[in-house]
Amino acid sequence: MATKTEDLTELSNIISTSLKSYLSYLPTPPTFRPAPPVPVTDEVAIEAREQLLQACRKMISLVDGPIQTVLGVAAAFYETTALKLAYDMKLAHNVPLDGSPISLAELAMKTGAPEETILRVMRILTFKHVFVQTAPGYFAHTGGSAAIGVPGIEAMMAHCIDECFTSGPHLSNVLRENNFAAPEDSRKSAFSRAFNTNKNFFEYIYTDDKPMGTRFGQAMTAVSNSRGHYNLVTVYEPLLSALKGTTLVDIGGGIGHIAIAAAQKLPNLKCVVQDMGMVVGEGRDGLPEELKDRVEFQENDFFKGQPIGGPGAYYYLRHILHDHPDPTCKEILSHIVNAMDSSSRILIDECILDERVGPEADRVSIMKDIHMLIMFNSKERTEAQWAALLKSADKRLVVEKVWRAKKDNTGIIEARLA
Ligand SMILES: C[S@@+](CC[C@H](N)C(=O)[O-])C[C@H]1O[C@@H](n2cnc3c(N)ncnc32)[C@H](O)[C@@H]1O
Repeated sequence: MATKTEDLTELSNIISTSLKSYLSYLPTPPTFRPAPPVPVTDEVAIEAREQLLQACRKMISLVDGPIQTVLGVAAAFYETTALKLAYDMKLAHNVPLDGSPISLAELAMKTGAPEETILRVMRILTFKHVFVQTAPGYFAHTGGSAAIGVPGIEAMMAHCIDECFTSGPHLSNVLRENNFAAPEDSRKSAFSRAFNTNKNFFEYIYTDDKPMGTRFGQAMTAVSNSRGHYNLVTVYEPLLSALKGTTLVDIGGGIGHIAIAAAQKLPNLKCVVQDMGMVVGEGRDGLPEELKDRVEFQENDFFKGQPIGGPGAYYYLRHILHDHPDPTCKEILSHIVNAMDSSSRILIDECILDERVGPEADRVSIMKDIHMLIMFNSKERTEAQWAALLKSADKRLVVEKVWRAKKDNTGIIEARLA
């Protein structure tokens, strides 16, 4: 429940109550020491955690004062700069993973970086509980710094600091030249300008920088896995009772992590994972043997058409349309519409942006919204924006139902032809 209070004592009471509730759901209390993350799945615990975080953030801002609050926002990039340096110097890989400390001198020897630079980076990162100083000149991992070495998490972090952080400073000029509206062309993004290309991010990673593309695929898989259960198999009930032979077309399905999870859970389901050539090859290589008769990979550019038609197909798009400005989304959707009949469904699995603005909004979605703007000139959308987008792609497309996840503000927007 959101609170409007500015009263510090009241905030402290909210913190204490929500903390008590939150802790009662945790098997072990949170720690800065390296330890596997404790998943929180209970709805009451998720709500208590959200309330706790909101109240803590308000408390910090009120205590810090208005000037520090706004300058803190202005200076947030120092932290990202320090993290990027830590990543480039491979600090996380050279600090012992068992939590024991390492001296600054040894860290300098192992990384080849000067002690002074490492220390300056550590000053900022330890302040944010990424690494910890155990004694003067000695550092150890916290859970946060240890996560840097986890392959998929490292890939996501690298995507943020190498691609997005490098592109972010160009956003203002890109928008300024268009009266501060986002150009409706992903090839004219801050990313494209920063990387001096007239391609969009996906065109770039599948032609000019394939290692960046492989890393992006790993990042997507890791982010999906870290969020736990997939909406497709948890909130979209019709699929649970699907008849044998029902086809799920996972459009832009990457290396197939969602289709594989769905096929494992739903024995009646047949999946076709469509993506670009390089990704499809990687997906085929990693497909578990026992799913080979039910999960197929197909190279298909979603701008060129939809080869799979027939009754009862589910066209599933997860984290696809948020990568594209509206006119491009309409193009993608129109190819699907051409393959549909009245029994087929489009399933859009995305963040459904909160209508609320301010401290109560979902902080992950609002960050992702700017991420999309920087990388693609695209956006996260509210429920009303999703419905309007579908209608504008084809006036026969209607939202049948919005299947919301309980754990976060994602959901599946189910659409059909009226
Ligand atoms: C943000 S990722 C989402 C991957 C996956 N659906 C998920 O939810 O994790 C976008 C996917 O779209 C694919 N993609 C980009 N352009 C495409 C195109 N023109 N045709 C087909 N797939 C494309 C990318 O290769 C990538 O796998």
